[in-house]
Amino acid sequence: MSNSILLRPYTFNTTTYNNRMAMAPMTRSRAGNEGNLATEQMAIYYSDRAAAGLLITEGTVVSKKAVGFINVPGIYSEEQTQSWKQVTQAVHDKGGKIFVQLWHTGRLSHPELHNGELPHAPSAINPEAKAYVASGFIDTVTPKEMTIEEIKATVQDFKNSTQNAVTAGFDGVELHAANGYLFHQFFNGCSNTRTDEYGGSIENRARILFETLDALKGIIDYSRVGVRLNPSMHGVQGMTIDQDTIPTHEYIVSRLNEYGLAYVHLTEPFTDVTEVPYAVSEIAKHFRPIYKGLLMINKGFTKESGTKVIEEGYADMVAYGVPFIANPDLVARFEKDAPLNTPDPSTFYTFTAEGYNDYPKMEV
Ligand SMILES: Cc1cc2nc3c(=O)[nH]c(=O)nc-3n(C[C@H](O)[C@H](O)[C@H](O)COP(=O)(O)O)c2cc1C
Repeated sequence: MSNSILLRPYTFNTTTYNNRMAMAPMTRSRAGNEGNLATEQMAIYYSDRAAAGLLITEGTVVSKKAVGFINVPGIYSEEQTQSWKQVTQAVHDKGGKIFVQLWHTGRLSHPELHNGELPHAPSAINPEAKAYVASGFIDTVTPKEMTIEEIKATVQDFKNSTQNAVTAGFDGVELHAANGYLFHQFFNGCSNTRTDEYGGSIENRARILFETLDALKGIIDYSRVGVRLNPSMHGVQGMTIDQDTIPTHEYIVSRLNEYGLAYVHLTEPFTDVTEVPYAVSEIAKHFRPIYKGLLMINKGFTKESGTKVIEEGYADMVAYGVPFIANPDLVARFEKDAPLNTPDPSTFYTFTAEGYNDYPKMEV
């Protein structure tokens, strides 16, 4: 089945991808150096996977305040920007494409990561989740409600980081507006009880995302910008669905049509939401009629189900996460219908070389 539509080159607008497989963004916590710089090991990791149609990097923070995980890389400083050049170069040398995922964790952080100061969030509501700090996963706290000035400054942080991404040679940026992090916290009623222009109505809750997109005008072409959303996230990372959650995401996805983006990256529910009021269980099917551009879908796909979702017309590309951690040569394995390596979750977020660049490639 090596002629699967998943594996054939794909052109959207003026961009041609080697295939329709993306590598999903995945935090690996391997930037445990002073300055949280991208490393040579990271260049090897990403370039080993360059056969993917598109690589999306791990969540990469847009400011010090955006940090919510230990040892994650940033792209806000000059030094960080320079450090990413070895990664983009190594991927391009192998004919790959790479976007950097721009990340602000908001309330999914901890004072331990901010010299004792509270993390920033739309409202002062504890997500009752876990933050990953030096001592491991610990309980989150009640964050500080952001002032309007802090929201505007955050938009500027995304702009600055996008400029840095262009300088570093990235093919584009993905705004991380999913998985319970800052933008998602603005979208949902469980985390946003503001009464100013960033809360209340659907338009207000979505405002920070569109202000960020508008701030990128002139910095990068919108055909090089993706947005990631996880509309039916429920019961994880502090997120709860209510009657406004899906309508908010429908409004966002519909408005994203106006930008001519590289793609919208949606995630099927992380948990079973079939019994959850107001949730949508089949995200690609639900949002395909709303979004006219390149729709990327993720979560739990195999070669067969990824091929099927594209053939059925519900998505244009499929992002694979964990399978890419364990199989640097996932594309070749799909081409040959070869067996896959077993991932080891105990080394997903560790700081060592073990479990990073040592998964065996296929025997030829
Ligand atoms: C180790 C690990 C780290 C992750 N880090 C991120 C991240 O930084 N940004 C993000 O948007 N999603 C992150 N995710 C979610 C993945 O992008 C993806 O949605 C998830 O693994 C489901 O896809 P899969 O079934 O193909 O693995 C992470 C997942 C894993 C397993």
